[in-house]
Amino acid sequence: MTTKHLRLGVLISGRGSNLQSLIAACADPTFPAEVALVISNIPGVAGLDRAAEAGVTTAVIDHTAYAGRDSFETAVTEALAAADVDLICLAGFMRLLTPGFVSRWHDRLINIHPSLLPAYKGLHTHQRALADGVRFTGCTVHFVRSDMDAGPIIVQAAVPTLPSDTPDILSERVLENEHVIYPQAVRLIAEGRVGIDGTRVVIDDFNTPPTAVINPPPNI
Ligand code: GRF
Repeated sequence: MTTKHLRLGVLISGRGSNLQSLIAACADPTFPAEVALVISNIPGVAGLDRAAEAGVTTAVIDHTAYAGRDSFETAVTEALAAADVDLICLAGFMRLLTPGFVSRWHDRLINIHPSLLPAYKGLHTHQRALADGVRFTGCTVHFVRSDMDAGPIIVQAAVPTLPSDTPDILSERVLENEHVIYPQAVRLIAEGRVGIDGTRVVIDDFNTPPTAVINPPPNI
């Protein structure tokens, strides 16, 4: 197992709670990554304040100032390359990326999505999961491919739904788990334990059989 100290570029468009979880993980000197640069495509968002408070370099690359997606993404790539970024973490970044950008950063671009992919791609995941009455939803960290919310899955957290859930309540419980699995996925990549076999991720050194969780529990 060869651990590499990764330089992360985190792309945000808003609140930045997942960014905060990455910053917090990186504050541990034994964590094999640092946040080298935070880029927001929207000026004035809370995530930029969180980064600045942690002393992390930030840049605003406002997509509305560019003629098209290509020139916007060229500016983003230039900023990431100038900061010597190894791995891009999308963290609530609300712009679709072109196939050109995705292939430029192939296998060096990951995203967190608030559902158990491949279920509930896109927006309003919690509302849709509750409307369907699923007993579990959750969150996923995955490599980005050109199709939206698709790509080899690195880590997932399954979160039970409860009869009393609203989309907001469920979203909070899922978010707590997002904050656990995003740093975990970064660590596994930095440790060189994440291999990609076609459409699947294979994680080295992982033999523990997971225990099934049943919702509602079998003893009710
Ligand atoms: C999270 O739910 C994430 O899964 C999704 O966008 C939201 C971003 O939240 N991609 P935050 O900005 O990290 O707080």
